[in-house]
Amino acid sequence: MHDSGLLRAADMLRSARSVVVLTGAGVSAESGVPTFRDPEEGLWAKYDPMELATIGAFERDPELVTRWYHWRFERCSHCRPNPAHTALALMQQRIETHGGAFALLTQNIDGLHQRAGSTGVVELHGTILTWRCTKTGRHTPMADIDFTSYPVRSEAGGLLRPNVVWFGEMLAPEAVDAAERAVGSCDLFLSVGTSAVVYPAAGYIEQARSIGASTIEVNRDPTPVTAAVDLSLQGLAGEILPQMVQRAFES
Ligand code: OAD
Repeated sequence: MHDSGLLRAADMLRSARSVVVLTGAGVSAESGVPTFRDPEEGLWAKYDPMELATIGAFERDPELVTRWYHWRFERCSHCRPNPAHTALALMQQRIETHGGAFALLTQNIDGLHQRAGSTGVVELHGTILTWRCTKTGRHTPMADIDFTSYPVRSEAGGLLRPNVVWFGEMLAPEAVDAAERAVGSCDLFLSVGTSAVVYPAAGYIEQARSIGASTIEVNRDPTPVTAAVDLSLQGLAGEILPQMVQRAFES
């Protein structure tokens, strides 16, 4: 990590009036939550998304899909927020204290941003912490569900499914509206720990650029947006973000 890049990022952050941060699985990697596209450890290297993360898969084999999401929930619930999550919560607090606007858009379903103290998080792909009845649409917190047998039914008799967005499904309109409003008025956009290949999230950085916002990417590896951003910081989010926030607001 070059010091000059960090200094430039800190300057950009300090002078921005409206900041949008988009996060992906890389932000939770240092907490022990697996990413999707890592060639060895990624979930999609081990499992077929079409057999686990579509409505068709759930209809075909609700037991398998329920087991898999229950397993993922158990894994997430044993993980803790890492310094990247904490830095983003602190970033929000500092920016809002100084009268700026801040929005955190996440593709993650693990709830770790909220556990670190971030507020108003826009969960583009939903959350694993609540499930919903396929018959009534009623939401139930994971903690209240009895997973002693699979699949699980609600009191109304409908199958319970995770409250996440599967491939082929629409994102929640409230989440899309909130994201588009924030992106449409930001002057700094940060893309952190996402491979930037899944839309609509992957398109937000281009939308931000098109209205003249500055763009920063923090990622361990190059992505399709690396060449297009104003500043690319290559490395671990849990190391880069705390330093960026510290230099922007505490030095
Ligand atoms: P990916 O697994 O596609 O990408 C994770 C990114 O994080 C990669 O670019 C890694 O190089 C990077 N990375 C890994 N560890 C990192 C670290 N410690 N610090 C910084 N970067 C790191 O995950 P997403 O981009 O979140 O959707 O994937 C987007 C969507 O595709 C997910 O929400 C999920 C998936 O299929 C659905 O299931 C609908």
